[in-house]
Amino acid sequence: MEERILKIAEEAALEAGKYAFSRIGSTVEISHKGARNNLVTDVDKASEKIIIGKVTEAFPGHGIVAEESGELLGSGYTWVIDPLDGTTNYAHAFPFFCVSIGVMKDGKPLVGVVYDPSRNELFSAVAGGGASLNGRKIKVSGIRYLEDSLIATGFAYNIDMKMENLGYLSRMLEISQAVRRAGSAALDLCYVACGRFDGFWEMGLNPWDTAAGSLVVMEAGGIVTTMQNSHFDIYARNIVATNGLIHSQVISTLKS
Ligand code: IPD
Ligand code: CA
Ligand code: CA
Repeated sequence: MEERILKIAEEAALEAGKYAFSRIGSTVEISHKGARNNLVTDVDKASEKIIIGKVTEAFPGHGIVAEESGELLGSGYTWVIDPLDGTTNYAHAFPFFCVSIGVMKDGKPLVGVVYDPSRNELFSAVAGGGASLNGRKIKVSGIRYLEDSLIATGFAYNIDMKMENLGYLSRMLEISQAVRRAGSAALDLCYVACGRFDGFWEMGLNPWDTAAGSLVVMEAGGIVTTMQNSHFDIYARNIVATNGLIHSQVISTLKS
């Protein structure tokens, strides 16, 4: 079953991602979701339609949690979909965005697929089966010290959380080698998985931001917890993902 799920997830991510890429820089309709800085474009919606169409055709009984269209109840399996992660980047034609599809079985991550059409990079993972990038196995970095680490973070749309994260950012800037804020949580997680980043933290996230990427990190040998160092699940709202070796250093730096 999981092989078929993986195949459909990859096909859906590729089709939706290629569609989004074909329209980058063209006139997209931009509207706001609540806050002025929380954007949605017609491409987010069209991408989600492509993915949901493929999923419901292949697996009519499965549940869906999709960022732009909400929840569809189903049994056993749930597809957690971010049709375009990095919408602010996308709206400015800054080419760091992706499609993210995670599939949960009875609440546990089973499959994760993240596709970055700008680089044609497809990250995939199946629980217990490892993680890959364009079909080649990937693993987290071997960096041992936060002082030698390249760390990533992101900022929630909510202003209070943004300010709180500034405190964490200043501590992390002091201790790590450098901190990046690229603007797509799902890709940030995949970059930890393939060793480009050594760690990532963010607060105020939604399940569709992390469902796929968190599994990709774990299957690449990394560790994923909350910022309180407790068990992570996709409804946790905040996340720390690292290569494992620097995990406790990241947690204690965020706490200090
Ligand atoms: C956002 C991106 C961004 C992160 C935000 C997310 P969206 O998702 O992942 O990197 O900092 O917290 O909401 O809105 O572009 O799908
Ligand atoms: Ca997102
Ligand atoms: Ca999105």
